[in-house]
Amino acid sequence: MNNNLANIKKSVSFLNKDDCVAIPTETVYGLAANAYSDKAVKKIYILKKRPKNNPSIVHYYSLNQLKKDCILNKNFFILYKKFCPGPITFILKTRNDSNISKFVTNKKKILAVRFPKNKITQSLLKVLNYPLAAPSANISTKISPVSASDVREEFGNKIKFILDGGRSKIGLESTIISLVGKPKILRLGGIERKKINKVLNKNVKYHKAKKKITVPGQSKLHYSPGIPIKLNTKKPKPGEAFILIKKREKSYKNYYYLSKTKNLKEAAKNLYKILRLIKNKNYKNIVVEKIPNIGFGEAINDRLKRASAK
Ligand code: TXA
Ligand code: MG
Repeated sequence: MNNNLANIKKSVSFLNKDDCVAIPTETVYGLAANAYSDKAVKKIYILKKRPKNNPSIVHYYSLNQLKKDCILNKNFFILYKKFCPGPITFILKTRNDSNISKFVTNKKKILAVRFPKNKITQSLLKVLNYPLAAPSANISTKISPVSASDVREEFGNKIKFILDGGRSKIGLESTIISLVGKPKILRLGGIERKKINKVLNKNVKYHKAKKKITVPGQSKLHYSPGIPIKLNTKKPKPGEAFILIKKREKSYKNYYYLSKTKNLKEAAKNLYKILRLIKNKNYKNIVVEKIPNIGFGEAINDRLKRASAK
């Protein structure tokens, strides 16, 4: 714990100087900066090579902090009570007197917010006088990081500090739900759709990216290992890496298992780890076995589809 305390202190001093720090969360690591500072938020976009029109999620420790920035509503309170802290992001209206930097939302009046569950990051957020804007800590369009070493692989020495909180427990980004008007899911993720439906007692639609992109993160190529991926494949050709959902009796060294027993939660946790592992070997192609499109399978298939976009 002492080690953690020292590292939290270090993070605070960098963040107070408007520098970026990578932070652990239960979903993926984030590249964090003071959400109230233009100078700090700008640095995130430069480091990630992220288009300015792609807004970032802001991370909070307490409801009282959030109340300063957003207008809360009934659906928010229902979901907050059930799922927070946890892997869910809410889209809410920004208050007129909020101090959120205009660069977080590209000057728009709606804000994505969440309460991460990782203990170290919670301790950090608790002692700061501002919330943290933090997109995933990867170069734009690349694979999201689920450990401190993944972040190092993405940025090398370009970022000042990585707060190490171990491997991300969920391993897949938060579910994003818009609560401006009728609730809509904008990104599938760490909380299954059926759980949200149950709590809100309605069938919340998943707002898939159409031709017109409403959420930049819905843009096609994303989560990419940089080599072609083909889905729904029964058997690999020589030289191809094969991702499977369930352990086979006969295994080969190019076989990579998301789960031993077809457990989709376990598969979600292993997805980015395995994609990164394969990326760092010399495969020309990745092929993936068909993955059931239920529960966490929906989010896994969504990520794989985007990772395979051309
Ligand atoms: O699990 C997560 O959500 C992780 C951890 C670090 O918290 N963060 C994350 O951030 O996945 P990022 O930037 O990689 O993905 C955020 C997504 C993007 O697709 C962005 O377009 C969308 O959220 N988003 C952010 N603000 C928004 C807003 N105001 N309206 C609509 N979409 C928004
Ligand atoms: Mg991301």
